Amino acid sequence: MTPRKIIIDTDPGQDDAVAILLALASPEEIDVLGITAVAGNVPLALTEKNARIVCELAGKPDTLVFAGCDAPMKRKLVTAEHVHGKTGLDGPQLSAPTMPLQDQHAVDFIIETLRTEPSGTVTLCPIGPLTNIAVAFERAPDIIARVQEIVLMGGAYFEVGNITPTAEFNIYVDPEAAKIVFGAGVPLVVMPLDVTHKALTTKPRIDAFRAMKTPVGDMVAAWTDFFERFDMEKYGSEGAPLHDPCTIAYLIAPHLFAGRHINVEIETESPLTLGMTVADWWRVTDRPANALFIKDIAAEGFFELLATRLARL
Ligand code: BDR
Ligand code: CA
Repeated sequence: MTPRKIIIDTDPGQDDAVAILLALASPEEIDVLGITAVAGNVPLALTEKNARIVCELAGKPDTLVFAGCDAPMKRKLVTAEHVHGKTGLDGPQLSAPTMPLQDQHAVDFIIETLRTEPSGTVTLCPIGPLTNIAVAFERAPDIIARVQEIVLMGGAYFEVGNITPTAEFNIYVDPEAAKIVFGAGVPLVVMPLDVTHKALTTKPRIDAFRAMKTPVGDMVAAWTDFFERFDMEKYGSEGAPLHDPCTIAYLIAPHLFAGRHINVEIETESPLTLGMTVADWWRVTDRPANALFIKDIAAEGFFELLATRLARL
């Protein structure tokens, strides 16, 4: 099988970090053309640095990392240090990365890659606010039809919201960007909170990471321990949701997931419900489907995949 070429657009974030590790550990299925950082969980200066830390941890310092947009298209940046800590990767102390940041802007890299790779062969995996992707689509509309698929983490229907009562963080931070991406007409797979809240880091699952007895296993266990405290308090759940790796796991093992092709629109006006993903789960409108909206995950299989793959690094 030829590995699928992807660009990971990200704002690490401990769960973003696990997604990157999973992708870098899976070269048979996934060819990471580049990692593009965006402002989100923490400001851009930290997300691009964190992306490089994660590549070095994976033993893949040759991975291309680009810095992108430092603020949403029309709004002030909202961050999530309350979940991820001051650095975005709080947990054990981490040394500054030595691998370089690429000079090219992330948006230019996305545009250039989509123009130079054969049409329909590059998948975008956004796991942060959608600013870089939307700016690339606005600046170079010719690339839109060349995207194979977008597999993103964002939104919610049954779980409604995590940053406001009605909005999920990635969509809320840049709703105008999300509107552009959801309206672009690209085949779209969405991992909303409805599914990621079923991918919980229970104690045995964290123990499995620690049992690897590798720097990656220890780090992933420590990271998940760190951000668990917040979600467990908030939801009273037995662990924290490992949101972002669901996108990469879907590319490797789509059979672990189930959802529906439905219409999803983004609220950009109402102050009360800004950033809401208005998902027509029950198909009560005749608005055309624009997304495969995932609801279920075989969580045991997902965590087994993670443990097996991360153990390779
Ligand atoms: C999303 O928000 C971020 O805090 C996580 O990294 C994830 O991408 C979950 O709402
Ligand atoms: Ca993220």
